[in-house]
Amino acid sequence: MPRYFTTPIYYVNDKPHVGHAYTTLAVDVLARWHRMAGEEVYFLTGTDEHGQKVEKAAADAAMAPRAFCDQVSQAFRDLTVTMGVSNDGFIRTTEPRHYEACQALWRKLEANGHIYLGHYEGWYAVRDEAFYGEDELTERDGVKYAPSGAPVAWVKEPSYFFRLSAWGDKLLNFYETHPDFILPASRRNEVMSFVKSGLQDLSISRTSFSWGVPVPGDAAHVMYVWLDALTNYITALGYPADIPKFWPAGVHMVGKDILRFHAIYWPAFLMAADLAPPRRVFAHGWWTIEGQKMSKSLGNAIDPVKLVEEFGLDAVRFFLLREVPFGQDGDFSRRALIQRLNSELADSLGNLANRTLSLIQRNCEARLPEPGAPDALWAEHIANLATTVGNHLELQQFHAALEAIFAAIRAANVHITEQAPWALKKTDPARGVAVLRGLHDALRVIATLLTPFMPTTMAAMLDQLGVPEDARNLAALATPLPGGLALPPPAPLFRKLDLPA
Ligand code: ME8
Ligand code: MG
Repeated sequence: MPRYFTTPIYYVNDKPHVGHAYTTLAVDVLARWHRMAGEEVYFLTGTDEHGQKVEKAAADAAMAPRAFCDQVSQAFRDLTVTMGVSNDGFIRTTEPRHYEACQALWRKLEANGHIYLGHYEGWYAVRDEAFYGEDELTERDGVKYAPSGAPVAWVKEPSYFFRLSAWGDKLLNFYETHPDFILPASRRNEVMSFVKSGLQDLSISRTSFSWGVPVPGDAAHVMYVWLDALTNYITALGYPADIPKFWPAGVHMVGKDILRFHAIYWPAFLMAADLAPPRRVFAHGWWTIEGQKMSKSLGNAIDPVKLVEEFGLDAVRFFLLREVPFGQDGDFSRRALIQRLNSELADSLGNLANRTLSLIQRNCEARLPEPGAPDALWAEHIANLATTVGNHLELQQFHAALEAIFAAIRAANVHITEQAPWALKKTDPARGVAVLRGLHDALRVIATLLTPFMPTTMAAMLDQLGVPEDARNLAALATPLPGGLALPPPAPLFRKLDLPA
């Protein structure tokens, strides 16, 4: 089954921060995992460049919108390189192919009778590019705020509408028949109760500014930026031409801030245009700083480039997906990061690899021992590890996948201590060699399964383990490496860091 994975396309109002890196990394791990499983993958990310928010950011920077977008979009593209991201495509909503797709989708919705011209009057938050009902707002010092904390303003203008009100029952039916469409389940319940409370028709065009995709046949209007933005997912596959191969998307990965757009508007637009809804929308939680959402708009962001410079790419990739149960919020802390790297990468995994590989150098003349009968370590902790990890990743439970791998690493460290292969050299050399071979087998599985999370470091570990390039995939794990393979002298792959005072 071809797999299509997407990140949100990020607003170019400001440069990227750790929150954006996080979503993109999560998708990168999925893409790398499924490629390693031999599946065909298309992984898309990109930038969302229209609307009032971006228009205002360009004006604040005293730049023309297009030049401003070029500059900030490039920063997001550069981030994919900094973070070692394996995306297959990068889309910008200012590209001609995207205008074409948006206008084709609009015409289709219009032809199917889902669009009408009217007047919008209500609250709008530019920061969220979202409409809000009066009942959702709170007031402080005469200013009204959306639940996100964004200030809202009263908008009154001619507008085209999408008949969203007609889609409530069809959406509820879709959620019922596709229980894993929205994950985590708690978020699914939120969406369902919102839809049950009744949907209003959605304003899908604006006339008070011009930085957007023109509405076909009515140049006074530009499309609502969310209709434009969501369409990116099919633009990239070639819409309006046929998009059967990778559609429907396997996972749209998003933050919980934009779940409503992806889980309500998007499937409604798609069904209204005779297209299948995506298979899954996963809404993960937020990185916070002292309890507040890390955000471009709030200016409290951590720069992922600096983080990678300081700690190394794979350490950052690992920490972000290991530390917080995927789906929940997490407070970012350097202390937690350093503790995690020290205890799990340097102490746990690093020591296991160093002890095993140094002993093979010394006791086995630097050659991989012949494969033997699987031992207790293999039977209890390694045999089913790839399946376990795969099952967790099928539900985007990155932290659970990593916990399973690190449980096996802990067990291997207990095993090496109990078996003491360094002492067996004198008392029972054959047994000593068999233990080392078993540990090598375990490390090979562990390094392979960790590759999507830490591609560079695990490639180095697989080099030290002597695993040939063409055996670095899930299918190859079933075949033992031949004995006698010459192994290079091991070098430590992780360093230990001092905790901040
Ligand atoms: O919403 N913690 O773009 P955006 C975790 N253009 N993830 C975070 C985060 C945080 N503190 N802050 C941001 C938009 N993110 C639209 C999307 S899609 C068709 C259009 C991540 O630049 C998270 O994935 O505001 C969130 O949903 C996304 O960045 C919002 O990025
Ligand atoms: Mg945002």
